[in-house]
Amino acid sequence: MSRSGPDLGKRVKTAKGRTASSVRWLERQLNDPYVKQAKADGYRSRAAYKLIELDEKFRLLRGAKRVVDLGIAPGGWSQVVRKVSPKASIVGIDLLPTEPLEGVTIFEMDFMAEDAPAALEQALDGPPDLVLSDMAANTVGHKQTDHLRTMGLVEAGAWFAVENLSPGGAFVAKVLAGGTDTELLSLLKRHFTTVKHAKPPASRKGSSEWYVVAQGFKGPQ
Ligand SMILES: C[S@@+](CC[C@H](N)C(=O)[O-])C[C@H]1O[C@@H](n2cnc3c(N)ncnc32)[C@H](O)[C@@H]1O
Repeated sequence: MSRSGPDLGKRVKTAKGRTASSVRWLERQLNDPYVKQAKADGYRSRAAYKLIELDEKFRLLRGAKRVVDLGIAPGGWSQVVRKVSPKASIVGIDLLPTEPLEGVTIFEMDFMAEDAPAALEQALDGPPDLVLSDMAANTVGHKQTDHLRTMGLVEAGAWFAVENLSPGGAFVAKVLAGGTDTELLSLLKRHFTTVKHAKPPASRKGSSEWYVVAQGFKGPQ
């Protein structure tokens, strides 16, 4: 992927003041071809390639008019949406600040806050045809707690999608290994024509993340 050939085995020389896990993270970043490619292509995150790859497989983005980007920061996914569908209007939300992006309304707030869904709905000039969620809860290192917290975000995103999407719309969300739990899966299957799981190549092999892709929203029931 790198034009100058693979740059394997770069090591962080000065570990001073860094924890072992931050050294590992830094080394992984330095040696990651997607990180290099993101720099070359002007994407703010390597995560951009996960959406590009999901789009290659599921044809999600072409012609999208109104898109919601849950967990938008730093903005890679929204950049990809705008590149494929330059006229799409996007509303994004994140706990963290996101640098401005043309055509994108950004809320710096917690999606789990009571007033967040209404803020997103009001910022769009109609129902979204695509709801994306790349949200991940900050991990605390306790497997079950981390799983529950991330699945809570996915579930909230799924309900938002079901309550707001226009007929024919799609919902894409990051989930953890094991996919979506039974209840969530049955919610999605009730409301969408197809529900699939995928692990795009850009998603690190060692990570437990997967994506659920629900397409063909059946409309209010
Ligand atoms: C993997 S990053 C998203 C990367 C993004 N898709 C991109 O391409 O640039 C996940 C984001 O989810 C956000 N997040 C986690 N919990 C959230 C919440 N409750 N409300 C809003 N954003 C949240 C985090 O702050 C983080 O920025």
